[in-house]
Amino acid sequence: MTTRRKRPEELRSYRWYGKSDLRGFGHRSRTAQMGYSREDYLGKPVIAIVNTWSDINPCHAHFRQRAEEVKRGIWQAGGFPVEMPAITLSEPFQKPTTMLYRNLLAMETEELLRSYPADGAVLMGGCDKTTPALVMGAISMNIPAIFMPAGPMLRGDWRGKLLGSGSDVWKYWAELRAGTITEQTWEEIENGIARTYGHCMTMGTASTMTSAVEALGFTLPGAASIPAADSRHARMASETGRRVVEMVWEDLKPRDFLEAASFDNAITAVLALGGSTNALVHLIALARRAGVPLALDRFDELSRRTPLIANVRPAGKFLMEDFYYAGGLRALLARIRDLLVLDARTVNGTTLDENIAGAECYNDEVILPRERALVASGSLAVLRGNLAPDGAVIKPAAAEPRLLQHAGPAVVFANYNDMAARIDDPDLRVTADSVIVLQNAGPLGAPGMPEWGQLPIPKKLLAQGVRDMLRISDARMSGTSYGACVLHVAPESFVGGPLALVRDGDLIELDVTARRLQLKVDDDELARRRAAWKKPPQKFERGFGALYQQHVTQANEGCDFDFLEGTTPTPDPEIH
Ligand code: FES
Repeated sequence: MTTRRKRPEELRSYRWYGKSDLRGFGHRSRTAQMGYSREDYLGKPVIAIVNTWSDINPCHAHFRQRAEEVKRGIWQAGGFPVEMPAITLSEPFQKPTTMLYRNLLAMETEELLRSYPADGAVLMGGCDKTTPALVMGAISMNIPAIFMPAGPMLRGDWRGKLLGSGSDVWKYWAELRAGTITEQTWEEIENGIARTYGHCMTMGTASTMTSAVEALGFTLPGAASIPAADSRHARMASETGRRVVEMVWEDLKPRDFLEAASFDNAITAVLALGGSTNALVHLIALARRAGVPLALDRFDELSRRTPLIANVRPAGKFLMEDFYYAGGLRALLARIRDLLVLDARTVNGTTLDENIAGAECYNDEVILPRERALVASGSLAVLRGNLAPDGAVIKPAAAEPRLLQHAGPAVVFANYNDMAARIDDPDLRVTADSVIVLQNAGPLGAPGMPEWGQLPIPKKLLAQGVRDMLRISDARMSGTSYGACVLHVAPESFVGGPLALVRDGDLIELDVTARRLQLKVDDDELARRRAAWKKPPQKFERGFGALYQQHVTQANEGCDFDFLEGTTPTPDPEIH
C-alpha cells in the first residue's frame, strides 16, 4: 500500500479539467453550466457516486437521500461529487432474473468510471445482484472505490409476529397450498412483510453479499449490518463519502488490497453467517476479476472448519435488525477471528484486525458462542460425481437430515413450464422418496440461472405432511430458501451436462458426507443417451441476450462474461 499522496495534477480528472486547451475549456464551461465554480472542483478528486436508485427498486428507495448524504461527506473532505445513475437490478421485478443482467451492470459501472472523469467511486447497491455487479465493475476499472450498502429493511410484522423476507413467503405459501391458512391471512402477510425501504432482512443474497463485501475489505467497518432506516445508516453514508476522497489521495485501489486472503475472509464470513449459495457464484466472479484464483473446492475446505453462528433466518431464528443490535458483522468476525486472515487490508487503509478490534457481541442468542453454533461445520457442501462433474452445491443445514444420505428415483421436468404444468398433477408418479429434477434452468438454459432451485413439493405430498424432498437443478436458489436442494449443477443441462441425460425412474444417489452426487445408470446407457441428445436452439438472435449467450461462463466459473475476466489493462480514453 502506497503512502505517497497524489498531487492534484496526477488526478485522472486533471486530464479533463486541468489543461488550458480547447477540450479543457469545454469541460470547464459545461461544469459552469451546471452551476459550479472552479473553486468547487479544480484540483479536487472527482468522485462518481454510482447510484442504482430506481422507482422500481424498493430496496434502494432511500438512495436519492443517501446519495445526498454521501455527497455531504465528499464535499467535507474536499472532493467533488458527481452522481451517476446506473441500471438497477430489482430482484422482485426484473425478469426473467436479475442474474441475466448482473454482468450488464458490471460493464456499465466499469465503463461509466472509465469514460468520465472519475478519480474515485462510491458504489451504492444492496439488492442481491447489485452488490457483486458494482464491485466487479470497480475491480476491473481499478480506481479507488468503496461500497455503500443499502442496509436491510426493518423486521416484517404480522399480528405481532416477526416476518422475514423470502423465508416466510415460502413457508406460508406452502401452508396456503396445504390449506392450513386462509387467503385472508395470506393477504395480511402480504401487507406486513416489507414495511420499510432497505434490502431483504433475512440472511438472503443481499445480506450475504453486502457482508461478504465488507469482509472482503470493500466497505467501512460495520457498514453492512446497519438497517436502512436507522439514522446511523445516513451517517455511514457521509463517512463513506469522506473516506473515498482520502482513498484517492492515497491511491488505494481495489487490486492493491484484494488478495487470496481477502476472499478467504469473505467466504469464511458467508459460512459463519449461514449465507446464500449465490455467494459462490459471485465471489468466484469477483476473484477472477481481481486475478485471484478461486475454485469451488475452496468453499468446501473452509466450510469444514467454519461454524455457523449467526442465528438469522433462514438457518436461524432472528433477522438482520436483531443481528445489528447484537453487534453486527464486526462482532461475528471477532468471534471467529482465529479463522480469518487478520492482516488482510481494507478500504480504510487498515487491516481487518484493526477493523474488528474491540467489537463486542451484545446478544449471545443472535450471534451464538462457538460452542453453541447452529452448525459446527460443513454448513455448505460442494458435491461432485457423474451428475455434476464440475460441481454442485447444497446447504446441508437447510435440509431435513434424512435426505443427506438418500437414493431415490428421479421425477424429471424438462424445463420450468413443464414443472409448473405437472408438479401438482394428482397422477404424477411421485413419493416422498423421489428425487425431483429440473433441467434447463442454468445460465444458458433458463436463461440467466434464476432462483428456481427450491423446486416445489407436489401438492399431494404437501397434503400428506411432506415438507422436504431431494431436489436437483442447474438453477440457483434464493438465499432465503431452504430444503434439500442441490443447486448449480455444472455443466448445465442446456450445454449437454449429464443432468440433461436423466430420465424418469433413474436412481440418483446423494451422499453429502462423501460429497458425492451419482446418477446410477451404467456408462453404456449414458453414452447412448448422450449420442441421442440434441443441442437446443439458442434463445436469442440479437441484443444483450445474444452477447450473454455467447460469453457467459458456467456456475463453477462465476457466470461472468469470459472477456470481462482477468486484469489485462484497458487504456484510458484519449481526450481529443
Ligand atoms: Fe431486494 Fe431482496 S428484493 S434484496
